[in-house]
Amino acid sequence: MNDIFNFSNNILNWFHIYGRKKLPWVKNKNIYKIWISEIMLQQTQVKVVIPYFKKFIHKFPNIKKLSKSSLDEVLYIWSGLGFYKRAKNIYETSQIIKKKYNYQFPKNFNELINFPGIGKSTAGAILSLTYDYSFPILDGNVKRILKRFYNYKLKKYQLEKKLWKKINFLIPIHNCGKFNQALMDLGTLICKIKNPICIQCPLKIKCLFYKKKYYLKKINLKKNKKKNIKKCWFILLKYKNFFYLKQQKQNVWKNLYYFPMFFKKKKAIIWIQKNKLKFKKIKHTKKFLHHFNHYSFFIHLISVSINIKKKIKETKNIWFNIFKPPEIGIPSPVKKIFSSILEKNKKK
Ligand code: ADE
Repeated sequence: MNDIFNFSNNILNWFHIYGRKKLPWVKNKNIYKIWISEIMLQQTQVKVVIPYFKKFIHKFPNIKKLSKSSLDEVLYIWSGLGFYKRAKNIYETSQIIKKKYNYQFPKNFNELINFPGIGKSTAGAILSLTYDYSFPILDGNVKRILKRFYNYKLKKYQLEKKLWKKINFLIPIHNCGKFNQALMDLGTLICKIKNPICIQCPLKIKCLFYKKKYYLKKINLKKNKKKNIKKCWFILLKYKNFFYLKQQKQNVWKNLYYFPMFFKKKKAIIWIQKNKLKFKKIKHTKKFLHHFNHYSFFIHLISVSINIKKKIKETKNIWFNIFKPPEIGIPSPVKKIFSSILEKNKKK
């Protein structure tokens, strides 16, 4: 139920704002105009159909005029639109309506599908768009939307069956014409064959095609991040509760305080030797990734504990008391390291 509610409501709300409501067959609409437009729209785009539709209605404004004309006259108006079988179908239907229905277009689904060129989808379109009857349309646009939304990967026959079942389930009882037109508009304007504009789609929250695309994008981003990983080493120089931090004058964390940091392990070792640190122990502890937008640091930690506080000849450095942290800027991986040290301390 929730499925129907979300699907049709989202579609109808979208149509209300973005749908094509000024198509020429909608103006002073009647079943005759909708029928002509639907036959013309079979395998043909709206923008191609519009001038032909206008010409056709000008020449044959109603079923009586049409049925009293000749097939040649109809084909003349149709010239250039292609798929001429459709023109013949229209003409033959007009003859049936004249003879069998006394110029009255039937409003009944089962009668409509017996007319030449009118299948289940076109009959649904004619009745829903003219009278708001609750019949679905399953043209190429609607098929593409459903196939993507539910990620159907079935073969032709099975797929067709599945799509009819689904659209019969989704079709609302009210506003059915708007719902059908909305799906066709969405298929043309958003859920396009090539380059669909998923970001603007009212169905995207639940659409499996969008989800797949979105996750693939995320995975690709992750891959790119992986490609751009810089290894670095932090020296965690510790004296009692104090850690040695230095204010950096360059790179991403400019002006923040953080551990001595090196992009070569050898350079880190040289720094330890140069400062003549008499350490109790030196430990290579855990490594972790820290992501920026376009690259990541793969941070390696070298823990060095000393017994005697050492003056290190560097400008702008402090001994940072982790139990009484001073109010200075430190980057987030350094914060993480301190939090994990404090956690460990608590457990002791
Ligand atoms: N294709 C078939 N019927 C259509 C309609 N009413 N609007 C847009 N495209 C269509």
